[in-house]
Amino acid sequence: MSEVKTIDNLLEKMWADYIKLNPQAQVIVDLFKERGDEVVNDHIALRTFNHPSLGIDVVAKPFIESGYEEKGEYVFEEKKLYAKHFEHPKEDMPKIFISELKLEDFSQELRDKVDELVKQVDADTIKRFDFTSLGRPWALSSEEYEQLKKESDYAAWVAAIGYRPNHFTVFVNKLKSFEGLEELNSYLKDKGIKLNSSGGEIKGSKEVLLEQSSTLADSVEIKFSDKSMTIPSCYFEFAKRYEDGSGNLYQGFVAKSADKIFESTSKSQ
Ligand code: NI
Repeated sequence: MSEVKTIDNLLEKMWADYIKLNPQAQVIVDLFKERGDEVVNDHIALRTFNHPSLGIDVVAKPFIESGYEEKGEYVFEEKKLYAKHFEHPKEDMPKIFISELKLEDFSQELRDKVDELVKQVDADTIKRFDFTSLGRPWALSSEEYEQLKKESDYAAWVAAIGYRPNHFTVFVNKLKSFEGLEELNSYLKDKGIKLNSSGGEIKGSKEVLLEQSSTLADSVEIKFSDKSMTIPSCYFEFAKRYEDGSGNLYQGFVAKSADKIFESTSKSQ
């Protein structure tokens, strides 16, 4: 692809990169389209560390420059994460959800390792408009990956997979051929797709205005500095939104549900 200059180009590039790591997403989109459904992207999730050089606000920059605005913030106590979501004034643009690992809640060893990784990335790379589609910007050995994974699946995922979407999300309200998430989930399972069942297949409820389910992450072979290893990569998410008291479709996220959704990359299909 030629140089990425616009937000539409960036979103396309992120999708192209994402389906290489998570081919099941394209398979699912094609299945929905065959049923005559329109597939709309509800949100894209990105992951980072709260390191001063690479925190949420740094990762969000290209989106802010493209008209996105900060909307909600979330704390995930159990996973030791903080997150923000961003919306674009144009309604058909996906929301951008960015989480960061709270490094201060982890061992000195983990913090030093993350610092070492981040220091390998030059400032010009971080400033690139398409930074969130570049993947892993540092060298990492399989041993370092395993070491991080002992303390945090999330830290190991960011270290190995890097800056690219953790998941895209189908906006279920737009799928006319399914009654709801339950029917959608059974359909996917019939097609042999494994869902994340940690905390139940459907996270959230009508009461909290958001229901979500997700696939288990695809496995992908990642080249580490010493060898290649197959690890969980990205997953595909499905979100159904409900109207709030004033009749507006809820646009936020529910921290309690997402806590379990984060586990979609703890193991893979
Ligand atoms: Ni999500």
